[in-house]
Amino acid sequence: MKILGIESSCDETAAAVVEDGRIVKSNIIATSLEEHKLYGGVVPEIASRRHAESISGVVKEALKQADCAIDDIDAIAVTFAPGLIGALLVGVNFAKGLAVSANKPLVPVHHLRSHIASNYLATDLEPPFLCLIVSGGHSHIVAVKSYTDYEIIGKTRDDAAGEALDKAGRTMGLPYPGGVSIDKISKSGNPDAFVFPHPRVDGAPLDFSFSGLKTSVINIVHNAEQRGEKINIPDLAASFQKNVVDCLISNFEKAAEKFGYNKIVVAGGVSANSLLRSKCESLCRKHGWRLYLPDLKYCGDNAAMVASQGYYEYMAGVRAGADLNAYATMPIDIVNF
Ligand code: KG4
Ligand code: ZN
Repeated sequence: MKILGIESSCDETAAAVVEDGRIVKSNIIATSLEEHKLYGGVVPEIASRRHAESISGVVKEALKQADCAIDDIDAIAVTFAPGLIGALLVGVNFAKGLAVSANKPLVPVHHLRSHIASNYLATDLEPPFLCLIVSGGHSHIVAVKSYTDYEIIGKTRDDAAGEALDKAGRTMGLPYPGGVSIDKISKSGNPDAFVFPHPRVDGAPLDFSFSGLKTSVINIVHNAEQRGEKINIPDLAASFQKNVVDCLISNFEKAAEKFGYNKIVVAGGVSANSLLRSKCESLCRKHGWRLYLPDLKYCGDNAAMVASQGYYEYMAGVRAGADLNAYATMPIDIVNF
């Protein structure tokens, strides 16, 4: 069964064709990232306009590279939540129009569910497993009980890990996205040069809190500026990254032990982080757990993961009509549309 996936939740306009949820036939991404770099973060209005310009060509190219006509497609899967509302609406409306005109079923896909599905692409991973989802907008520990049944075990109380990295990167004067810059520059820094607090959430030991860490970086940089001192940015970046990764790994380990999981999965844009990947490998070696990390090309936003999750939602009977709307927020476990 071939699913056409469409993604436009943030600054990537993407379309892909995936067979049976696993075999990627095509995966096309157009991004407006370079334009957002000028402003140090994604400008929603610009993202929406670029989606509107690119989406038709991106979908056409995805079909062409998969050697498919629209009639060869069994269903159209589209990201409908969560994300930037104006950006999501472009993908949702395009998918609705295509579904109606080509008379194909329309399958709404939750963005975080699709990030998890990036681990199904070209692998043998099957639920149940425990997943750490770390993206620009979310940090969750989720028990994936089946392809469409999820339980949130832990979550951030304030900033997401990616958001904290992006804001810290900006404070350090690094190019957007800060997470990518921090990963790169940390390779030449000393991760023990600066000591950061290890925030705990009272009464919820598996939850995260990253806003205090972000404030610590801002204070370090501002205090140094006031004293006229120069900060070693690679050292600061490496120390901050180490702390964020330690916070993620420590709760993830506790959660896996508490709930008895030995199949461990990481997903979302921050899963591209080299330190997080290597620390997850060490963690799983230590416990004898099986680890799945997305291929680097599927860590960030893409439509292959949407088509993969779309396949499993389709198989579970999920369908939307021409009244499908987009939503800026939506929990992963209780999806309404
Ligand atoms: O999943 P994603 O592409 O978009 C959202 O759904 O939010 O995640 C984007 C986030 C950004 O915060 C970006 O800085 C972060 O992923 N990111 C990284 C790396 N690559 C992307 N963070 C740390 N290290 C990386 N290599
Ligand atoms: Zn994402």
